[in-house]
Amino acid sequence: EKQGFKHFMLKEIYEQPGVVRVCLEAYTNSTWEAGQTTPPVNLDLDPSLYQDLQHIQILACGTSWHAALVGKYLLEQLAGIPTMVQYASEFRYAPAPLMANTLVIGVTQSGETADTLAALAMEQERRANLEPQFSPRLLGITNRPESSLGNLVDNIIDIHAGIEIGVAATKTFVAQVMAFYALALELAYRRHTLPESRIEEILVGLRQLPGQIELVLESQERYIEELAHEFGETQDFIFLGRGINFPIALEGALKLKEISYIHAEGYPAGEMKHGPIALLDAKVPVVAIAMAGSVYDKVLSNAQEAKARDARLIGVTPMDEKEAEETFDDLLPVPVVEELLSPILAVIPLQLLAYHIAARRGLDVDQPRNLAKSVTVE
Ligand code: M6R
Repeated sequence: EKQGFKHFMLKEIYEQPGVVRVCLEAYTNSTWEAGQTTPPVNLDLDPSLYQDLQHIQILACGTSWHAALVGKYLLEQLAGIPTMVQYASEFRYAPAPLMANTLVIGVTQSGETADTLAALAMEQERRANLEPQFSPRLLGITNRPESSLGNLVDNIIDIHAGIEIGVAATKTFVAQVMAFYALALELAYRRHTLPESRIEEILVGLRQLPGQIELVLESQERYIEELAHEFGETQDFIFLGRGINFPIALEGALKLKEISYIHAEGYPAGEMKHGPIALLDAKVPVVAIAMAGSVYDKVLSNAQEAKARDARLIGVTPMDEKEAEETFDDLLPVPVVEELLSPILAVIPLQLLAYHIAARRGLDVDQPRNLAKSVTVE
């Protein structure tokens, strides 16, 4: 069943190019070009979800919450809709004041996470019997449309990732982010917030991702496996990112914590100097996600500040970047893509790093201690 891979997690990491292809096939019109009358994206959702939409509220836990943070960036930047993302477990006990014309999205791979289901049910209940602009509009993003989530909400985006056995989510994270690209583009098209030529450009970029993920897997895995040997005694890691890649820093840290039991923190790189920089010394490696785009130079200078504290610096960087080669001790290069598309490539080396550090320590990667695949209790 593991098809020659040592663990399900590694097999699932390698399934990601295929998952991205399936999502693109399911969500987008492969022959669409700017100016065509049929829409570029079709998610088969009830049109009432989109009507007069003013806000989006996303509820999720764990890795799904990280996907939601990438989603917020896409929905705000592409479709211009103010979007809030909250942990379902927090929202339940301190819900935001009711806003009119709000799409409430629950993101849950399993469709069974108790807190996410309860937060959505609560939202449905408190919006019932109010004036029409407050009535509930619920959407689920899940890998299991036949789950409890499916019973609760009428509209679902299926992430088509196939069953995921490793407790640490990998391919389902990438698929959730794909669902958010599709939703953001669908809304941008309907609301005319982007020129059609820009939508076409993003779709062309998305279609190149599967091949680019394959390239990262082929070119990086052996190197990362070797690199993992160097962290046999390491007790703490810091992951830095900014903008659309801040959630990727959180996700890289979560993967490492879950399966290697190493303490790891994800930070927005610009926040380091407000406290966490005090943690740094030669024993704490820093992984910085420095993708081409609006914050590239900023992340590099944040990384240099860490280097000045003797931290070992690992950079997830665009391929062939001379400046990055000078800054980092170790490079995990990914193909150059526009910033908007970079999270899906940046997360791959971080998944491999967490995997190989844990496997090297001889840990039970697929069934880490204290964790269950879905958390069905509060
Ligand atoms: O099934 P869900 O997406 O609702 O699960 C949410 C979290 O429990 C889950 O993402 C957890 O954080 C994973 N183990 C992450 O790898």
